Order: sequence, then structure tokens, then C-alpha cells
Amino acid sequence: MTGGLELPGDKSISHRYAMLAGLAEGTSELRHFSAAADCHSTLGCMSALGAEIKIDKDLVRVTGRGPRGLKSSWRALDAGNSGTTMRLLAGILAGQEFSSKLTGDESLQKRPMKRVIAPLREMGADIHGRDDNFAPLEIRGAKLKAIDFKMPMASAQVKSAVLLAGLFAEGETSVTEPARTRDHTELALEQFGAAVQKHGRTIKVRGLGLGNGSGKLVAKSLEVPGDLSSAVFFIAAASLLPDSNILIHNVGLNPTRTAILDLFVSMGASIQMLGLKSMQGEIVGDLAIKGASLKGGVIAREQIPLVIDELPMLAALGPFTEEGIEIRDAAELRVKESDRIAALAENLLRMGATVEQRPDGLKVEGRRAGKLRGAEIEPRGDHRIAMAFAAAALGAEGPTVIRDSDCAGVSFPSFYKELERLAER
Ligand code: S3P
Repeated sequence: MTGGLELPGDKSISHRYAMLAGLAEGTSELRHFSAAADCHSTLGCMSALGAEIKIDKDLVRVTGRGPRGLKSSWRALDAGNSGTTMRLLAGILAGQEFSSKLTGDESLQKRPMKRVIAPLREMGADIHGRDDNFAPLEIRGAKLKAIDFKMPMASAQVKSAVLLAGLFAEGETSVTEPARTRDHTELALEQFGAAVQKHGRTIKVRGLGLGNGSGKLVAKSLEVPGDLSSAVFFIAAASLLPDSNILIHNVGLNPTRTAILDLFVSMGASIQMLGLKSMQGEIVGDLAIKGASLKGGVIAREQIPLVIDELPMLAALGPFTEEGIEIRDAAELRVKESDRIAALAENLLRMGATVEQRPDGLKVEGRRAGKLRGAEIEPRGDHRIAMAFAAAALGAEGPTVIRDSDCAGVSFPSFYKELERLAER
């Protein structure tokens, strides 16, 4: 792998900017907005709720009419495949003066929503879902009260749903997380003018009704950094192919996202961060990656939430490492866009790897267990499974076919084109 690469805008940050811009007063300009289908689901929902949205390639202009300016949508809001869209929007919709219905694709309708329903109900929201846990969600907006929420799980989406609902609550809402999770919501809220405070693992947001000086959110001009979670497929491919030398420009390097880089480096990867700068509270820089022999290792406990989206790639790298890769304490992987533990085990086996599947993780044997061979991959509609195996396939013997490969577009529509461009033959 050689050459330079620019990634689509960060998916997590794009969702948050789109939602907050829709709640702000005036026109926000969001540059380098994510190309991910997921983020376009968020734009579709915000537009159905009355925000004016104009898309010009990766520049998105969102005009909002203030925090009380959303209107009800006559049709159900469609979050597509995006858990972030559904969970974060549930927080916003809980505090509106109208009712909404939120739905999503087949995969999203199987993902647990009780984790946001419970705290939002505690704030006074009226929310119903199938079996009290699944979409479609019916949300009847209500006058919310602030809560001090001790979050039972380490989830940035749950934290964000409660903080966003907190904007519409009377008083100061706080969320205490059991372990650190990505903090893009806190940073974005600050950018749009909300009153946010952080003390250790507790984050507080003041309801807009009480006044943050102005009681409103302000439109902003913001640039979205490149998506580190998408960079990981290229970091992995470049690491496993000797003589690789790639440079990824303008990647988001927020410290709540970079645990994956520490992990790679601790396994022997050659990664250099260059030209770090701060951009609207987020840190951005370039990454230079060279081929290197990877040691492998165990990933467990509080490491898990910090690398949750990168675990598919790490697992698929297992057979290329000296000691293999073992993932523990990651039952959450079973309720992502697919059951990622099952999807990884199945497809690794198809490529000839030695894998042990466990309820909360998997163990993948390293190089000694033999070289991977090309196979037919079934990604189960999961973008990260498709991309992880495309990267691993580059190091395998013989061709690999990825069925339903377009599902990569959920986060990275130009993925195969970029992989093809950087892969030398
Ligand atoms: C995300 C948080 C993570 C992550 C997801 C995006 C976010 O989910 O897996 O892809 O943007 O907040 P959880 O917060 O549920 O762990």
C-alpha cells in the first residue's frame, strides 16, 4: 500500500453537528461532512423535522429555527441503519411539544433501545417501543425534568441522548459514565453555545429554558475531521503488507478515539502522528503508516468501549499477528449493526483461520495456525465486517469475494475505490 489518502468526515461528529445545527438559529455551514449513508439518514430526519438542508458535495448547510423551532413530521422518521441517529434523536424528540415515530431498517429494528428509553422516561418522556425495547419508537414529547443519571453502561450514544434531552429539561442534567466514551457531543454542544461542564466522569448540561445567557443555540461554521474509525482499515492493511508507506491526511485524533492507535503501536505497528492541530475543540492530524510485524495480544475491560468500532478489524488481523488476537468483555459486539462476534468467527473460519467464539468475544490464533486463504465473505449487511475482510483479504492467499459489498457505504461509500488506488500490484 502506498500513497496519500483523505477520508470522509467523521461519522460521529457529523451526526452531532447536523442535529445541533438543526436546533440552532440561523444557517450553519458544515464542511467535509461525512459521506456515510448513516449521516445522510440524520440529515433526512432533521429535514423532515423542519430544518432546511442544502447539500453540495461534502458541504452541508443546515438552517435551523432555534431549539423550539422543530415541527412534527407527518411520516415516520427513518434512521436507516444508524443506531446513533435513532438514539440521539430520541433524546431530542423526547423534549419537543409534538409526537414522533422513529423507525429504521431491519438491523436497526433488532437493536436494543431500552438503554435510552429508560433514562428518557425518568426525565418525564412518554416513549413506547416494541417489547419496550425495539424500534419503531413512538415518542410523545413532554416537559422534561433534569436528572442525575448514573449510566449503567459505557455508551456514548446513551450519554448523548440524555445530554441532548437535557437541553429541553428544566434544571441541570448530569450523566456519570462508568468508563470513558467518546466526547464529541460535549464538544459539539459547547461549539453551538450550550452550557456544558465536565468533572471527571460526570458531564452536566444546563437546560436552554433556564438560559445559557441567551437560552438558544447559535449557528456555526465547522469543519469535520476525517474519520479515524475508517482510517483503521487502511492502517491495518498497510501494517500487514511489508514495504507499505501511506499518509492519511486530516484525521480526527480526539483522545477518546485514539486508543486504537495506542493498541496498534503497542503491538508493534509503525504509526506516526504529524501536524497536530486543534479544530473547534477536536484534534486533527496526519497519520503516516508503514508495514510492520504485529505482535497481537488481548483486548479487554475498559479498553473495549474506546475501540468498540475497531474490534472487527483487530479480530480480522489476528491471523497475521505473532500471538493472535483475543477480545474479551465485548458482549456489546453482538448488538451492533450485526452480531459482530458471530460474523467475525464465521468469516474468519471461511478464510481458514483458527477461531474460538465466546459469549463476550473471540480468540483468533496467530500466524502459526497458518496463512489465510481467499474465500467468499458474508458481511451480514454490516459495513465494518465487509471492510475488515477486504483489508484482511489483501494479505490472504488467492482472491476473496465480498458479497453485498456495497454495505460499506453505511460509513464509507468510496472505500473500495480508495483501497484499489492505494494497493500496489
Ligand atoms: C457512537 C458510539 C458507539 C459506536 C457507534 C457510534 C456514537 O456506540 O459503536 O458506532 O457516535 O456515539 P455506543 O455508544 O452504543 O457504544
